[in-house]
Amino acid sequence: MKKVNVGVVGCGNISGIYLTNLTGMFSSVVNVAAVCDIIPERALDAQKKYGVPKAYFTDDEIMADEEIELIVNITTPDQHCPVNMMALAAGKHAYCEKPLATCRKDGEKQVALAEEKGLLLGGAPDTFLGGGIQTCRKLIDDGWIGDVVALNASMRCRGHESWHPGPEFYYKAGGGPMFDMGPYYLTCMINLAGAVSSVMAYTRISFPQRLITSQPLNGTLIDVDVPTHIAGVMKFASGAIGTLTTSFDVYDDHQALVEVFGSKGSIIVPDPNGFGGPVKLMRADGPGYEEVPVVCPYRDNSRGLGVADMCRALREGRTPRANCSQTFHVLDLMCAFHESSDSGKEIALKRGFERQSALGF
Ligand SMILES: NC(=O)c1ccc[n+]([C@@H]2O[C@H](COP(=O)([O-])OP(=O)(O)OC[C@H]3O[C@@H](n4cnc5c(N)ncnc54)[C@H](O)[C@@H]3O)[C@@H](O)[C@H]2O)c1
Repeated sequence: MKKVNVGVVGCGNISGIYLTNLTGMFSSVVNVAAVCDIIPERALDAQKKYGVPKAYFTDDEIMADEEIELIVNITTPDQHCPVNMMALAAGKHAYCEKPLATCRKDGEKQVALAEEKGLLLGGAPDTFLGGGIQTCRKLIDDGWIGDVVALNASMRCRGHESWHPGPEFYYKAGGGPMFDMGPYYLTCMINLAGAVSSVMAYTRISFPQRLITSQPLNGTLIDVDVPTHIAGVMKFASGAIGTLTTSFDVYDDHQALVEVFGSKGSIIVPDPNGFGGPVKLMRADGPGYEEVPVVCPYRDNSRGLGVADMCRALREGRTPRANCSQTFHVLDLMCAFHESSDSGKEIALKRGFERQSALGF
C-alpha cells in the first residue's frame, strides 16, 4: 500500500504521542512529510525529534505543499474549523482533534466543503477503536447482552483550575465539560448503540466565578460564560435511551463510567479517554459483573489510530471509521444538549450517522 503523505499542524502537548505513533506503529501506512506550528521552535523541535523532512511556520506554506495529501489538525479548538477549511480548500483530506468545531454552523460548513470537493474529513477521538471499546462492541454485536435497552455515562469533576496552568478557556465559549470531554463519551456511546435521534437536557452554571489555585495564575478569578453542569437524555434511533452527565461542578473521585444495559445483560465499558480495559460483563443468568479479557488490539495509547485508519480507507476506497458523519453527529449532539436546556424543548439531530464496521482483530 502506498503510504499517505501527512502534514501535522500544531506541535503542542498532544503532538508528542501523535508523532511517536504516526512515525512508529502506523508508519506502514502513514508518512509524516511535514510539521507546522506558528511557534517556530515547536515545529523545529518536532521536526528534529521525529525525523520529519519539512517544518513550516505558517498554515499557508503547509497547505501549498503539493506532496501532502492529508492534514492532521491538532491545534487548539478555536483553530479546528479554520485549519480544516484551509486544508479542504487546498484539496487535502483533513483529520482533526476534538471537537470538530466550537459551534454547529462551523461543523456544517466543513462537512459541506468536504462533500463538495469529494475529500475525507474526520476526527478524534479514536479511543473508540481501542481494544477496550472494540471488545465491548464485539460483545454487543455477538449478542452477549441481547438488545440494547439503555446506556448511561458520566464525567464528573470539580473543574481544572486547581492544576491546569491556563484554565480560563474551559469556562469560555467552546469550552465547558461537554465540549472538553463529551466527545469521548458520545463517540463511545454511538459506536456501541448507533445514531441518536433526539436530546432533552438541562444545564446550569453552578459557580459564576472560579478561583484559579494552580500556578502561575493562583488567585485569579475566571468569569464563567458556559454551562458547567450538563445532564440530559438521548433517544437513540434503535429505541434505546441514553443518559449523560458532564460536570465541572461536583466533587467525585469515581473512575469515568459508561454502562450499557441490554435485554440479557449489562456491560461496564472502560474509560473512553483510554484505549484499554477493563471490560466487565454481567449476564442475566450469571453471578454478577465479571471482568472479561480485552480481545481486540490497540490496548495502549494508540492516538493516531484514527488517522492511520483514514489513510488505509483512502487507499482502499472505503469510508474511514472516524469519519465526517460521526464527528459531526457528536458536535450536533453536544450543541443539542445546550440548545435543549436553553429552549426547554426536545432537539432533533440534524443529520444521521451510520456505524462503520468494527475494527476486528
Ligand atoms: N493535551 C492533551 O492531553 C489532549 C488530549 C486529547 C486531545 N487534545 C486535543 O488536542 C488539541 C491540541 O491540544 P494540545 O494540548 O496539544 O494544545 P497546545 O496548546 O499544547 O498545542 C496546540 C499547538 O497548536 C499551535 N497552533 C495553534 N494554532 C495554529 C495554527 N493555526 N497553525 C499552526 N499551529 C497552530 C500552537 O502554537 C500550539 O503549539 C486540542 O483540540 C485538544 O482538545 C489534547
